[in-house]
Amino acid sequence: MTRIAPMLFALFGNPVGHSLSPLMHNAAYERMRINAHYIPVCVDDAAEAIERMTQLALRGASITIPLKTAVMPLLDQVDDTSRMIGAVNTIARDANDRLAGYNTDWIGVVRGLEESLEIKDKTFAIVGAGGAARAAAFGIRQRGGLPLIVNRTPAKGEKLAKEFDCPAYPLARIAEVSADCLINTTSVGMTPDNGISPVVKEVLKNFPWVMDCVYNPLRTRLLQDAAQEGCATITGLGMFVHQGAEQIKLWTGQEPPRELMKQVVLERLGGRHGD
Ligand code: ATR
Repeated sequence: MTRIAPMLFALFGNPVGHSLSPLMHNAAYERMRINAHYIPVCVDDAAEAIERMTQLALRGASITIPLKTAVMPLLDQVDDTSRMIGAVNTIARDANDRLAGYNTDWIGVVRGLEESLEIKDKTFAIVGAGGAARAAAFGIRQRGGLPLIVNRTPAKGEKLAKEFDCPAYPLARIAEVSADCLINTTSVGMTPDNGISPVVKEVLKNFPWVMDCVYNPLRTRLLQDAAQEGCATITGLGMFVHQGAEQIKLWTGQEPPRELMKQVVLERLGGRHGD
């Protein structure tokens, strides 16, 4: 019996060892009965990621920290959305062997939010001004919501706010901000730094909803504080699952089993159903 080699996909970044993307993608391919495998590959820079794409004959790749912007000039083409966001988290190889860059993080944020609330006409205080903040601002604008940027370094926040035509506040003045929802796009609170939050607890009562883009741990310090202040909370799990599911859709043209993907990640993180 001849065995057909699986399609190969990879996650490029540094570090990648603790990522749950391989677990989630491989579970999806198995359920979809697609002969494919997804591996984590730690690389020093974007050029090495592109080299490895050829060496390993990859059909597609996920791009994570710190390569999401650096990889852009090395691709044959980058779609308009990624250009507006200024970051690529997905590479797909087309039939002519050309490498195209996409961004699925913004769909992750939008669908993660939409599992709990409608975005249109609501206000969103985005904490941070990096790639994840840019994806969030873009997605919220796309769905008719109103972003505002809150960042530790005021100049960086103001630059992003100008691009998305919205207000900016220094994080030091967050007590003056109120919005329907606060979204943390910084990595503050991510394992192993579980105990810390980017925002002082006392201001959280100004936000009926609080979402964390960090998904490990599921119940971050920020979300624990928010629950104690009476806010409704949204974990980063939905965003993580949907950004990955959109990658699978781009690579295979098929709708992946999002609920199963969510369950395998949830189990690994030791969460409860409904988290
Ligand atoms: P990514 O592309 O993953 O969003 P990034 O580009 O490194 O990551 O952006 C991280 C964001 O988190 C930055 O806006 C950073 O604030 P500064 O612009 O002031 O650097 C923010 N950030 C990181 N650590 C922080 C902390 N301890 N408190 C508040 N904000 C923090």
